[in-house]
Amino acid sequence: MAQISRSAAARQTNDLDAFWLPFTPNRAFKRAPRLLARAKGMHYFTADGRAVLDGLAGLWCSNAGHNRDPIAAAIARQAAELDYSAAFHFAHPKSFELASRVAALAPGDLYRVFFCNSGSEAVDTALKIALAYHNVRGEGARTRLIGRERGYHGVGFGGISVGGIVSNRKFFGTLLTGVDHLPATYDREQQAFTKGEPEWGAHLADELDRIVALHGPSTVAAVIIEPMAGSTGVLPAPKGYLDRLRTICDRHGILLIFDEVITGFGRLGHAFAAERYGVTPDLLCFAKGITSGAVPMGGVIAREGIYDAFMRGPEHAIELFHGYTYSAHPLACAAGLAALDLYRDENLFERAKKLEPVFADAAMALKGLPGVLDIRTVGLAAGIDLAPRPDAPGERGYAAMDHAFQDEDLVIRITGDTLAVAPPLIVSEAQIGEIFDKVARAIRAVA
Ligand SMILES: Cc1ncc(COP(=O)(O)O)c(C=O)c1O
Repeated sequence: MAQISRSAAARQTNDLDAFWLPFTPNRAFKRAPRLLARAKGMHYFTADGRAVLDGLAGLWCSNAGHNRDPIAAAIARQAAELDYSAAFHFAHPKSFELASRVAALAPGDLYRVFFCNSGSEAVDTALKIALAYHNVRGEGARTRLIGRERGYHGVGFGGISVGGIVSNRKFFGTLLTGVDHLPATYDREQQAFTKGEPEWGAHLADELDRIVALHGPSTVAAVIIEPMAGSTGVLPAPKGYLDRLRTICDRHGILLIFDEVITGFGRLGHAFAAERYGVTPDLLCFAKGITSGAVPMGGVIAREGIYDAFMRGPEHAIELFHGYTYSAHPLACAAGLAALDLYRDENLFERAKKLEPVFADAAMALKGLPGVLDIRTVGLAAGIDLAPRPDAPGERGYAAMDHAFQDEDLVIRITGDTLAVAPPLIVSEAQIGEIFDKVARAIRAVA
């Protein structure tokens, strides 16, 4: 052992071996790393000083842009004042302040905020609250969860069970039992090159009735969907789809969960997509933009009645056996409050709404480039499907992302052969043009 640690210590500090990168082809990355050393506003900077435009708001999270001074200062102040305090049996003032601010942004009677540290934890928290809610009301037979094909709900066992991405599921055993899936709402023949919500597809919500009839309504706890599926390539809800889901859930006493980890905090031009669509879920998951990506944080907003259902029994007894060491971490709360101030003071959600048509036009201008099969846009998000290379699915998408970074100084996201663009909400009109010019050159380069 002593031998091993000596040789490990002798390694250079910038050795790339030890870090096992998540959701990354590690060997390809380590052969040609894409390293980001610092950031400011709309740009990253490489160690050698190259400015790289951020076309993905970090990973759909840095909605106020990078390294914003008020957020950095709030984190620094908080670290010096109160680095940590537990949220079990104790609390610090900013946790209440942030919960109230988040609740004030949410529609309807979505009011009670439970904090965790990521989108995956937010999803597991929402699923657990849903199951426990039925349980405490004496409807413990409601255990089934319904997700959707092509849905992404993070990487916890709950999230991958209700999620609908084959590679995120197939390696990990039997997952949760009692889970069913709605069909995905995307059909290229019906909706290719649509700006905003497609006209076609609302009827797919009626599949919920079929699934519920199959299992019996009294066994179904909750339905979870993303109002706009981001990770599988920006798939906006068809017009009327979410209303129909809401109606069916109400008819059967099933909870509706919106996973707004990407759509929350301005991506679709509103604080939450629930507001854009005028549909209030029972539970709403958030993460990412709550701190503009500066400190990990996630959470769930529950409707009043859900919280109330738990507030029974002796007052000294815990009502919900769930929580995390870092729930409502002081640094995350400080970053969250500073981020919400920036969103408000700079009107960033309205800004996203105003820029939506400009962004959609710039994205659609890529129609006709070699291999472009479809482009979808909603809010400040775009998905561009490229034709896969024969026998090498994902290779063209990977090459486009790599070319964009190495040769065009642009960060974009890929899922297989689909490119995603979702810049910070501070993006200028000129930068929107610049981003899509760069994407166009990357697409041509991999034709
Ligand atoms: C809709 C949705 N839910 C959950 C998650 C998981 O979030 P995290 O990576 O913070 O666990 C993501 C991440 O992209 C997401 O897009």
